[in-house]
Amino acid sequence: MSSNCRIISVVNQKGGVGKTTTTVNLATAMAAVGKRVLVVDADPQGNASTGFGVVRANRGIGCYELMFDGLLVEDVAVPTIIPNLSVITSSADLAGAEIQLVTTERREFRMKDALDRSAKDYDIILIDCPPSLNLITLNALIASHAILIPLQPEFYALEGVSSLLQTMEAVRERFNPTLEVQGVVLTMYDKRNSLSDAVAADVRSYFGDKVYETVIPRNVRVSEAPSHGKPVLLYDLKCSGSRAYMQLASEVLKREWGAFESLENTDLPKAVGE
Ligand SMILES: Nc1ncnc2c1ncn2[C@@H]1O[C@H](COP(=O)(O)OP(=O)(O)O)[C@@H](O)[C@H]1O
Ligand SMILES: [Mg+2]
Repeated sequence: MSSNCRIISVVNQKGGVGKTTTTVNLATAMAAVGKRVLVVDADPQGNASTGFGVVRANRGIGCYELMFDGLLVEDVAVPTIIPNLSVITSSADLAGAEIQLVTTERREFRMKDALDRSAKDYDIILIDCPPSLNLITLNALIASHAILIPLQPEFYALEGVSSLLQTMEAVRERFNPTLEVQGVVLTMYDKRNSLSDAVAADVRSYFGDKVYETVIPRNVRVSEAPSHGKPVLLYDLKCSGSRAYMQLASEVLKREWGAFESLENTDLPKAVGE
């Protein structure tokens, strides 16, 4: 692994909060500005693999084999339609990994060991976590430099966040002392719903400046894109969801590498070879 490579887990044990959508589109935006990006689909449901249009036939080996069979990243990563962006797919096997991990040697470190032994150079690795604080998620947190938490501004948004933060604290104490919060992103924001504003205000007072300025709006184009096997950034670059994800990518890059990289003027279709 290149020493400058940054590994970020996209995590929230709630399902349906936008983890996969955020992973897929952040990765795409970063690849479009020339970062070498790897996405690890660590959810047995395989939605990130689907979101990049990797058909099931090309998911023979992936995250499971990386963690259990001693394979290298370069053995299991497959290219996507986006230059600079590869994905380690998930398969149904990964669903059994949770049980298998219990009796496996160095069970908490399988993903970290796998990413460490990789010679392949990436600037950033994004891990799309399953909707659970299970051993796979624990592996992702231990392998990561930072976490990115998507939150949907609904009534129960902050419920569950405390157990996520407790888990993170336990990981810091026992396994990975430098794990930090990259940021918290509000997703599926509905400006016509006054509850969105109220919850967003709560989230901002709880997490302070860890919350990105960018808010991802609820946008039907975002939800249509996966069925076309494309990130929304390729499906409809001009829609509000795409613009928000470009902006979010700028913020994440700024936090990781300091320099503000505006993605505003990136010729994304050209960058991704469309
Ligand atoms: N900004 C958005 N606008 C509309 N639909 C969205 C948006 N973000 C995500 N979705 C949809 O919401 C559902 C859950 O999102 P997903 O990213 O799969 O969540 P998670 O990975 O946390 O389970 C998916 O059907 C997705 O297409
Ligand atoms: Mg998901």
